[in-house]
Amino acid sequence: MDTRRNSPEGRDIRYHLHGYTNARKHQESGPLVIEKGDGIYVEDVAGNRYIEAMAGLWSVAVGFSEKRLVDAATRQMSKLPYYHDFGSKSHSPLIDLAERLVQMAPVPMSKAYFTNSGSEANDTAMKMIWYRSNALGQPARKKIISRKRGYHGVTIAAASLTGLPNNHLSFDLPIANVLHTSTPHYWREAAPGESEEQFASRLAGDLEKLILAEGPETIAAFFGEPIMGAGGVIVPPVGYWEKIQSVLSKYDILLVADEVICGFGRTGEMFGSQTFGIRPDIMVLSKQISSSYLPISALLINEGVFEPIADESERIGTFGHGFTGGGHPVAAAVALENLKLIEERDLVGNARAVGAHLQARLRRLASHPLVGEVRGVGLIAAVELVADKAGKAPWGKPGALGAQVNGLLQQNGVISRNMGDAIAFCPPLIITEAQVDTLVDAVERSLAAALPQVRAQG
Ligand SMILES: Cc1ncc(COP(=O)(O)O)c(C=O)c1O
Repeated sequence: MDTRRNSPEGRDIRYHLHGYTNARKHQESGPLVIEKGDGIYVEDVAGNRYIEAMAGLWSVAVGFSEKRLVDAATRQMSKLPYYHDFGSKSHSPLIDLAERLVQMAPVPMSKAYFTNSGSEANDTAMKMIWYRSNALGQPARKKIISRKRGYHGVTIAAASLTGLPNNHLSFDLPIANVLHTSTPHYWREAAPGESEEQFASRLAGDLEKLILAEGPETIAAFFGEPIMGAGGVIVPPVGYWEKIQSVLSKYDILLVADEVICGFGRTGEMFGSQTFGIRPDIMVLSKQISSSYLPISALLINEGVFEPIADESERIGTFGHGFTGGGHPVAAAVALENLKLIEERDLVGNARAVGAHLQARLRRLASHPLVGEVRGVGLIAAVELVADKAGKAPWGKPGALGAQVNGLLQQNGVISRNMGDAIAFCPPLIITEAQVDTLVDAVERSLAAALPQVRAQG
């Protein structure tokens, strides 16, 4: 790798530790330095243009060059660049955004609470839930159930909720009181001959067994993404969420819908909860809320969550939680403008219509010798690669084929992301059918290039 003193690549290697990167390998291979954005495209320092098929990190709904978001930020920056919500202070962008989010929610919600990232929002949800259990005189009700392969972030509590080994190994996580139940991945996890419905019933049964084994009075909440994102774009089987919710309501357990990826149109409805008939007590929102132009996240809580918290804050004297940047006026103004754009341009409808085209085109790859499963809803999808279709076995080390094809895709002008052997696609919601065709053509070329390499190496 070029480590010349003044090249961006060399300086990156010298000075920057990357997230989600093999730090040793990075010293050899260096970064891809992205310089600018234009619609669904980004361009690197060498002038190469890529379709950003992950919308950054599942998040840039309106594309990478939306002037109206820049203008909204500039206006707010000039008027009031910073304020906060501690000690009953407030400001207009925060109030407007709170009102808008509560009114947009697909189930009755009472209040919005603002944070800066998905991880902080999930940490906050967990703290609110514990606080509420104490407020209700149920101090034993502190355990939280999430799922293997679920993703909820990286702070100590959120990483504990996350059900992926790389987020736990050598971090001494998960913390106590976090339990993980089964992954709703029919293609990989179903027993031979089991229907989707039967598989969903078995998973609801697993959840109930875990609750009974731990003691229902000790379980406070269940966290789940409507579609698992970073775990490999896992779309739950038919009937799954209904069956899970009937177990949760039987034992009076709160449901937290982590809508950080699914929220604001990704699945072809405004929220993933609508796509799957989920009725959450708490919703966790981030990413597409501001198209990630600025960091902002939010929790929506219903009356059953808010009321005990309000009582407890009065008993103690304050709700002892808050972030300096929570509900930042510039981020909130950008989020409001972004939500306006999503509505004005019917990007939810676009996700549904163009998403159907993406899903249909990707499903045509299912017969390719290296493709095990194509899955997805709306504008989120994954193609899982295998070396042996019947046995669903990977090519050598799990993730090797995914990394190989992901690299080929980059050479073919598409930035995607491989989660192990699942290549994910989650493009900006503004993508057109013609752009989807260009994207999927590049996937086809990359698979065609990978096949002889796989066959040559056995
Ligand atoms: C579903 C989900 N929840 C939470 C997070 C964590 O968000 P952040 O990276 O902003 O902390 C992510 C990030 O990808 C996510 O996909």
